[in-house]
Amino acid sequence: MASTNSAAQVLVASNRGPVSYDVREDGSLHTKRGGGGLVSGLSAIGSDADSLWVCSALSEGDREAVRRGVGEAGVRMLDIPADVHADAYNGVANSVLWFIHHMLYQTPLEPVFDAEFRRQWASYETYNRAFAEALAQEAAEGAAVVVQDYHLTLVPGMLRELRPDLRIGHFSHTPWAPPEYFRMLPDDVARQVLGGMLGADRLGFLTHRWADAFTACAEQFAGGLGGTRVGVHGLGADADFLRERAHEADVDERMAALREEIGTAPDGGARRTIVRVDRTELSKNIVRGLLAYRQLLDDHPEWRERVVHVAFAYPSRQDLAVYRDYTAEVQRVAQEINSEYGTPDWTPVVLHVKDDFARSLAAYRLGDVALVNPIRDGMNLVAKEVPVVSDEGCVLVLSREAGAYEELGEEAITVNPYDVIGTARALNEALSMPAGERAERTKRLAAAATALPPAQWFLDQLNAL
Ligand code: G6P
Repeated sequence: MASTNSAAQVLVASNRGPVSYDVREDGSLHTKRGGGGLVSGLSAIGSDADSLWVCSALSEGDREAVRRGVGEAGVRMLDIPADVHADAYNGVANSVLWFIHHMLYQTPLEPVFDAEFRRQWASYETYNRAFAEALAQEAAEGAAVVVQDYHLTLVPGMLRELRPDLRIGHFSHTPWAPPEYFRMLPDDVARQVLGGMLGADRLGFLTHRWADAFTACAEQFAGGLGGTRVGVHGLGADADFLRERAHEADVDERMAALREEIGTAPDGGARRTIVRVDRTELSKNIVRGLLAYRQLLDDHPEWRERVVHVAFAYPSRQDLAVYRDYTAEVQRVAQEINSEYGTPDWTPVVLHVKDDFARSLAAYRLGDVALVNPIRDGMNLVAKEVPVVSDEGCVLVLSREAGAYEELGEEAITVNPYDVIGTARALNEALSMPAGERAERTKRLAAAATALPPAQWFLDQLNAL
């Protein structure tokens, strides 16, 4: 991997990589390629640039691929032992750091930093060290390394010690916790996390709010930023890709099927739709969204039979019981609303929990209102994708706690995500907005949402590094 043109070498490190593998029944390996901002960002640096993506094996299929020496050019998958990975990923990254940054704990009973946590923390260190060592081994003299997210907070510091010649960046795709919440971590762990991050030359965040929170934590618990620079890069939607993909035949098919499920109003007209699309993460606030919809049907009975809430809640992190319970609660509340309000001709909530990207795009195209009401979210790309893809304009009801609020707040109807009555009022206002205003706002939202496409987002970070 050593490069002759070291200035051009770029390494990316993330827990989830751009490919994954399944072992088929006949024993063969099936390759799946992922999308997202980093994939298009990396392709933007050009095919002759020397780049390497270091990621972790996540499944048995991935581990088998590593063992068989199967792989993609430009990707190095680390075969971290499954138990170490589970402790680091489920135990620390998803159950502690994710909870801290999204402020999700029910503090009377949690968190509890006990011996079990210390054991998992040791795995998190081992897992971060495996990345740092692989990067140190692969990087050419003076290469640029961009480390992603809360899974890998210790990597910049570890890598700096191994390879002081490298330019090291770290990017957080999540919020950062304010000091009052961050200090819940045991002091030594908090210092390690901050020290690891501050090993980077430059740290990137999605909004000023998260960047400022990090800076405040560094000032209060680590004696300041030292020489580390902090920058903001608000990842935007990939308009070209989305517009093209949203007009392929499978999306048209999904639209027809959805229209069938939505049905027509008693007067024969089209029903209005409130759409939402989320990975079922605890921060997405899907349950309060359903409660707000129920409140809307109570406060404005004139909407009954004339509106449908189309909610897609795709599975995420199903190894964790709280995630499984949350999905079950979403299903229970949706079911409750349907049995309480539904009629033979009207299903008030159309809920789907099986991931289907084409169907998500279909919902984006036909939605009259999009509900994006997270209790806390790094950015929320759904808020940015809907206005780009919408056929006839879609009103965005947006939480003021989503990172996207910083760029889209002015053209959206904004809500306090905890206020179910206020959210119901916002839904009514959104449904009642005249078509002309709705279309105008959607245009301005789409412009703001595409201001920093993934390729530019990535290049800006490299240039700043
Ligand atoms: C969310 C966050 C990302 C994070 C990802 C990990 O989408 O916004 O910052 O990288 O979750 O998801 P995973 O499915 O890999 O746990």
